[in-house]
Amino acid sequence: MSPTKIASPPAPHEVCAVVMAAGQGTRMRSDLPKMLHSLGGLPMVGHVLELCRRLGVKRTLVVIGHQADRVREALEAYPVEFILQAEQRGTAHAVLQTEEALQGVVGEVLVLNGDVPLLSDELVERLLHTHATARAVATVVTTRLANPAGYGRVLRDSHGAFRGIVEEVEATAAQRRLREINTGIYCFNLPRVFAALHKVRPSAVKGELYLPEVLPILMKARGRIATVLAEDSREVLGINTRAELAEAYGILRRRVVERLMESGVTCLDPATTHVSALATVGRDTVLYPQVQLEGRTRIGEGCTVHAGCRIRDSEIGNRVTVLDGCVILEAEIADECAIGPYAHLRPGNRIRRKVKIGNFVEVKKSVIGEGSKVPHLTYMGDSTLGERVNVGAGTITCNYDGFGKHQTTIEDEAFIGSNSCLVAPVRIGRGAYVAAGSTITQEVPPDALAFGRAPQVNKEGRAAAIRAARAKK
Ligand code: UD1
Ligand code: CA
Repeated sequence: MSPTKIASPPAPHEVCAVVMAAGQGTRMRSDLPKMLHSLGGLPMVGHVLELCRRLGVKRTLVVIGHQADRVREALEAYPVEFILQAEQRGTAHAVLQTEEALQGVVGEVLVLNGDVPLLSDELVERLLHTHATARAVATVVTTRLANPAGYGRVLRDSHGAFRGIVEEVEATAAQRRLREINTGIYCFNLPRVFAALHKVRPSAVKGELYLPEVLPILMKARGRIATVLAEDSREVLGINTRAELAEAYGILRRRVVERLMESGVTCLDPATTHVSALATVGRDTVLYPQVQLEGRTRIGEGCTVHAGCRIRDSEIGNRVTVLDGCVILEAEIADECAIGPYAHLRPGNRIRRKVKIGNFVEVKKSVIGEGSKVPHLTYMGDSTLGERVNVGAGTITCNYDGFGKHQTTIEDEAFIGSNSCLVAPVRIGRGAYVAAGSTITQEVPPDALAFGRAPQVNKEGRAAAIRAARAKK
């Protein structure tokens, strides 16, 4: 057989990718499939799929098996093709399942371990480059580890030429001392790899069909095998245990925080700043200690997020201040707002410009119009507030009657006195006043003053009389 004809590296959009994600992940000791364990806010395998998307590969095939339905459902947002490996008989068997889907494809395929999530775009590009320039039929990414335990070891002859890979369980004591390991990241030529995969025999110890076993078979068929050394072994860490998951999270977290600081974000205590790989933060924003930005959160420029805030899947504008201890979920917050301390924004809020949401305020599924203030101790649920509304301390929307949720509407410039209950559905008209301590059950017309409380009665001298009666006893 002649070596592959390409010499210039294929562009990523010319190659397909196969992501192996069918294994159970026994060593996690978990009911959740290993691939779905969260790493920095997305499932472990999601990082590999994000990489495929960033590189723009032509097709991404994900081999699933263990709890396939659950994995498929969790990954349904990704533009991938799922291939079922009903029985997990090893990594060679996993790749073989894609043969039908890749029928007729001539070119290169990236094969990626779903549990090696920290891979960089540069390393994959180097893999494609080496594969092409070496005119290889298969190229393997390797790295050197001080502690190679658990990984397949790379075997080389006395000239350093690649000979094969031996899995740890099958390795001799001398082979186990080898420090160069297989990362589980490969580039193969199609369709040649499939012919060789059919020849892989079950391993001696575990009886599995090992993907690295395809390499000596390809060599026998006069195929050239190339290797690429990952200098930074942290990016090819394989996750098999919870300890490795935590280690990977630490690496990812530092990587994201360093990228933020390079782009002009101040992290006062980078060691305790947690930012998802999908989040973005604008220039001159300051993150205080123990801030967590989860999911696809986007924070604009010149914001300040104080200590202990958790913000998930939210969009925050510019020059927003979030004081200590806030929880903000799926919110839209426009420029120049001030939130907190200790505010809870439950999902579905739209907070317009220059709004203040203050101390111990809970807001849910509400729209708060520009310049409005909800400064203290309030629950606003299912509410629509106009502009420049002022909500007094302790105001509560009574949005739930035990059966359904009801809406509260407060029009522009209305003023709600402290400790009012607004029993929904209810509307407070534009510019209206609600007297402090009111329970409002009916619409308040625009510009009206509503009293929803018992009139005060003063009994002259009565307190003194009570004290005198007690003193006699
Ligand atoms: C694998 C490699 C090992 C390498 C290490 C790097 C093999 C035989 N060994 O070992 O040389 O050093 O990765 O991290 O390939 N999978 C399937 N179907 C299966 C079996 C596994 O899809 O039938 C998937 C798993 O979900 C996982 C990946 O393949 O994402 C690797 O499987 P795993 O069992 O973790 O292999 P390792 O023992 O880590
Ligand atoms: Ca693994």
